Amino acid sequence: MNPPLTRDMPREAVETWLRETDPEQLALLWAAADRTRREWVGDDVHLRGLVEISNYCVRECAYCGIRGPNRGLSRYRMTAAEILDAAGQAREFGYGTVVLQSGEDYGIETAWLAEIIRQMKAKTGLAVTLSLGERPEADWAAWREVGADRYLLKFETSDEELYGRIHPPRPGGDTDRRLQLRRLRELGYENGGGVMVGLPGQSFASLARDIETFREMDLDMIGVGPFIAHPETPLGRGEIEVKIEDADQVPSTETMACRVVALTRIVCPEANLPSTTALETINRESGRTSGLQRGANVVMPNLTPPHFRALYDIYPEKSLAQPDAASFHLQLLDQLAAIDRAPGRGRGDRVRRTSST
Ligand code: 5AD
Repeated sequence: MNPPLTRDMPREAVETWLRETDPEQLALLWAAADRTRREWVGDDVHLRGLVEISNYCVRECAYCGIRGPNRGLSRYRMTAAEILDAAGQAREFGYGTVVLQSGEDYGIETAWLAEIIRQMKAKTGLAVTLSLGERPEADWAAWREVGADRYLLKFETSDEELYGRIHPPRPGGDTDRRLQLRRLRELGYENGGGVMVGLPGQSFASLARDIETFREMDLDMIGVGPFIAHPETPLGRGEIEVKIEDADQVPSTETMACRVVALTRIVCPEANLPSTTALETINRESGRTSGLQRGANVVMPNLTPPHFRALYDIYPEKSLAQPDAASFHLQLLDQLAAIDRAPGRGRGDRVRRTSST
């Protein structure tokens, strides 16, 4: 008998379920996650228009195709007018949120972006989410002041040893993303974290700790996607030594990512969980709907102008997951209707039903 699927299930029980392969047992996991999702956050699927505003990056993350040392990649930074246009599109499609994402790019000047956020809030009234990496606190405070609502900063793994091996520190010293996520909340942002599933060297025990960490941190948003090897990176080239038994290595498959989404929903029932682009990418047919039927309640349609999309090359084939914004929008509405879900209205903020501790 597998351990019960409850909000306070212990880490060992999470690990047991992560290792589960029996189809009948997995069907129980999917059903429990879907039921929890419906009871806590309902049938609405919140749509967040994603704008990848720059692919410059000063960091050297071992898994990511836009890492600074990747000289083969042309770099771009969208203009203010292009960014505001994309936000206008989000509004036309009826999305509740605009997400501005980039590499860690100090060419994105604090005051320049603040002015864009201010105008975006005034013109569209939409929620604005930022996903711009580890910036100084003063930058986060300045953007919050002009109305930015949420900040995404995935910690990728809670395993310090593994984290250290794939994240060379930035000049100026190491940082603790979990601490930064708490700071972001203190600044008044909704905060979002997340991990990759199937990183070389990632064990089931470590992944179970990631899920426990989500619960302890009480994150507002949690993004989980499969690791996808990029050939122009140290991990993709097999240059990083991996010390792990085969039986302990988490596979980077669709089902594995879905186990994590499902268990995350069960232990963090109020959180907004996207069916991530990485999940869509490894199964273009049905990755998106699998996520939505196994705990997720958010989709992030890509509004990056077509000529920049392939350059936001964090992992291979990412830009093939979605066609142009207008056709994707129609396709998505059909897909949601087919699984009895409705596009969310409004901003899709995290709704607290229980008092935080
Ligand atoms: N495979 C899967 N996800 C990746 N990301 C970056 N590189 C990869 C990869 N090779 C994810 C990370 C990051 C987000 C922007 O994309 O989780 O936080």
